[in-house]
Amino acid sequence: MSLTDNIIEVLLSAEVIRARVAELGAQISHDYNGKNPILACVLKGGLTFLADLSRTIPIPHEIDFLAIGSYGPKMAKTGVVRIMMDLEGSIEDRHVLLVEDIVNTGRTLAYIVENLQTRRPASLRICTLLDKPDRHAVPIPLDYVGFTIPDRFVVGYGLDFREKYRNLPFVGVLRET
Ligand code: IMP
Ligand code: MG
Repeated sequence: MSLTDNIIEVLLSAEVIRARVAELGAQISHDYNGKNPILACVLKGGLTFLADLSRTIPIPHEIDFLAIGSYGPKMAKTGVVRIMMDLEGSIEDRHVLLVEDIVNTGRTLAYIVENLQTRRPASLRICTLLDKPDRHAVPIPLDYVGFTIPDRFVVGYGLDFREKYRNLPFVGVLRET
């Protein structure tokens, strides 16, 4: 029994991801030159992306982490989320770039953005590896998008199904059982 047994299609290979992450890093380095931004990673899914992205950004920047949890299994429908682990540092007057794995309905990010805006950052933008525009339920401005993907459940490169598959080096479509 291998982790890849339930992957029916490789959507984005490790090579394709690496090339796109480098492009995003170059663009971010250009846009944030001289601004010492904070890359705020949304755990756990954003971890792999953040680790690779950060290393493609040669300008000075900091990294920080936050984790979101749901109040229950209905979260996907209601969008009721909470901050399980907050950023370590203050973001007041700082340029913050949120680093996410995937935007589905957009509700999770909408909540995070609303929360972080109250802390008066100098700017707050979003960088997501994947975007599923077909599923958007709330308007959410995405500043950097790695890949736009169809409405399919994907795993790998940080994304999980029940905490598994995060370690796959590619993004694949999971067999729906
Ligand atoms: P949203 O609030 O509906 O945008 O959901 C965003 C969160 O749901 C992401 O941060 C992921 O953790 C999870 N998610 C959404 N789609 C997928 C998927 O295709 N695979 C794995 N996790 C997903
Ligand atoms: Mg996530």
